[in-house]
Amino acid sequence: MCAKKKSGSTAYQCTQCSYTQPRWLGRCPDCGAWNTLEEVSSQTEDALPLGVPGFGRSGSRSIPLSAVQSKEGSRFILGIEEFDRVLGGGVMKRSAILIGGEPGIGKSTLLLQAAEAARTKGRVLYVSGEESAAQIRSRADRLSLASDRIEVLCTGLLEDITRTLDEMNPVFVIVDSIQTVYSPAAGVVPGTVNQLKLCSQELVAWVKNRDAVLFLVAHVTKDGSIAGPKALEHLVDTVLSFERNEEDIRFLRAQKNRFGSVDELGIFQMTASGLLPIQDPTSLFIVTRSGALPPGVAVVPVFEGSRVFLVEIQALTVPAKSAVTRVYSDRIDSSRVSRIAAVLEKRVGLRFSDQDIYVNVAGGVRLTESAVDLALAAALYSARTDIPVPPVTALIGELSLAGEIRPVGRLKPRVIAAATLGFTRILAPAAEDGAEAVSDIRQLVALLFGASQRG
Ligand code: TYD
Ligand code: MG
Repeated sequence: MCAKKKSGSTAYQCTQCSYTQPRWLGRCPDCGAWNTLEEVSSQTEDALPLGVPGFGRSGSRSIPLSAVQSKEGSRFILGIEEFDRVLGGGVMKRSAILIGGEPGIGKSTLLLQAAEAARTKGRVLYVSGEESAAQIRSRADRLSLASDRIEVLCTGLLEDITRTLDEMNPVFVIVDSIQTVYSPAAGVVPGTVNQLKLCSQELVAWVKNRDAVLFLVAHVTKDGSIAGPKALEHLVDTVLSFERNEEDIRFLRAQKNRFGSVDELGIFQMTASGLLPIQDPTSLFIVTRSGALPPGVAVVPVFEGSRVFLVEIQALTVPAKSAVTRVYSDRIDSSRVSRIAAVLEKRVGLRFSDQDIYVNVAGGVRLTESAVDLALAAALYSARTDIPVPPVTALIGELSLAGEIRPVGRLKPRVIAAATLGFTRILAPAAEDGAEAVSDIRQLVALLFGASQRG
């Protein structure tokens, strides 16, 4: 159970996620677990994760808020637009960014490319615990970087790294990877969660007081979570993940971002000269086909952050082998799929309750917007009846349980994006910019499937 008293020199740490804060609470404000905050003594305070910057250091004084320097304008622009946007418009100085991804995805490449922009502002330090200086040099050569401005330190020993940081005072620091950093202060075994936490925390504490940025590279485990789990994520300001889809397109997104949204998607391709942005990615997630569309597919313009992408939803229905039917859908929440199928069954009379339903999204993106309802309904209807959706048709709209088509946010840019890509028929909740208005699911089915409709 937890300690209850409050005193000036103690702190409370969550036993589950290590989040630390000055008062006892019944519930951890970070991971949400109940009754996990425990008092930790003031002697160990300096070694605590910095839940709040500067927390745990003695001698802090309050200052008027008006005297605090605003952090606006204190970003480094990395010069890689896809990267800058994911970070919220460049990387905030004094911040620490954890970047996770499987080996070979391009973490080292991306950061070395970003270092190129930073080196005009000051010294760049690349700490490598995995690759030799020669390997880093050959990567820099391949990327045509001016390698004389980037300094390399090949070590995993924390004390060597912090000493170099203090001597060199770099503005841009890459630690590749954090899993190779160790300190005798955290025990004899390298690679433990303790090592990871202590070393990260030391490095993060360093960057908090400098006009510098710190990137910590982390390998991901098989299940996709950053190894050394939640504990590390609290220490840093931003957590980025780098992933790839079946077509080897690489996606950079923020899982946590203290200084920006987590909705932006950075899209890259690995080429002979490094990672390059995909030019005009709007059409990346639609499938180009010659001839008629197969049944079960429908296209919707969705927002990923500030950009619109046209995305193809694919559905398949088969008679269930058992009395219990199932929905198999990784990219769209299964409960949304079940709900749309139920609306179709009730309002249009098309039976889904004896069917197993499979739903996929081309390109492997996850769709969470309610604006996908209409396209999902069309894909399901089409899959169940084997009647294809007419070609060059895009669908936008939320569907209520009553079968009404509800308005969606930012309709106009969606319509424009679809029209630009040659979708000549756009069905939407309102007749905006050439879109055709539809008001309910029956009308949608009539418009799309016309005389050939069933039910
Ligand atoms: P890398 O950045 O080393 O990935 P990570 O640090 O995430 O493990 O690069 C990944 C792969 O990309 C590597 O196998 C070699 C390849 N590559 C290119 O094809 N072109 C290039 O210009 C570079 C630098 C790497
Ligand atoms: Mg690497």
